[in-house]
Amino acid sequence: MFESAALTGSKPQQYDELAQQARALLHGERDRTANAANLSSLVYHALPQLNWVGFYFYDGSELVVGPFQGHPACVRIALGKGVCGTAAVSKRTQRIADVDAFPGHIPCDSASRSELVVPLFGAGGELVGVFDLDSPELDRFDADDQRGLEEIASIFVASLS
Ligand code: SME
Repeated sequence: MFESAALTGSKPQQYDELAQQARALLHGERDRTANAANLSSLVYHALPQLNWVGFYFYDGSELVVGPFQGHPACVRIALGKGVCGTAAVSKRTQRIADVDAFPGHIPCDSASRSELVVPLFGAGGELVGVFDLDSPELDRFDADDQRGLEEIASIFVASLS
């Protein structure tokens, strides 16, 4: 059974530990659904002040919700729409301190106040989807969180090939 020990130390150290746990959790498995499901659970339970953690996958036309932890979410998001669609099109992580101040934010859970979305690209540069985290706290995600969660996202993408 996979044991995820509580994270300790500075925030960067905690993300290093979380990344090690993520590598161990995904080791030897390439299935996208399985790895997205387990990673959502790992991150949701490891980090404080989150109300939604999960994946949207690109189906060749739009983003479709994948494995997640949290309340039921919007199923389809067009490229360029919302925080998720903006991350996918801009190819840049979107770190949103106040979702109500983001034009076009798509509210799935009314508790969400801040959001971080990391776009996911495959080895050939193709869009795989996005990794999305919501918090009920304003300005929940700082630069350390962004770096740490981008690393988690890259561990996920690497696990697929
Ligand atoms: N808020 C997102 C939609 C997805 S949910 O947060 C789970 C957005 O604006 O794209």
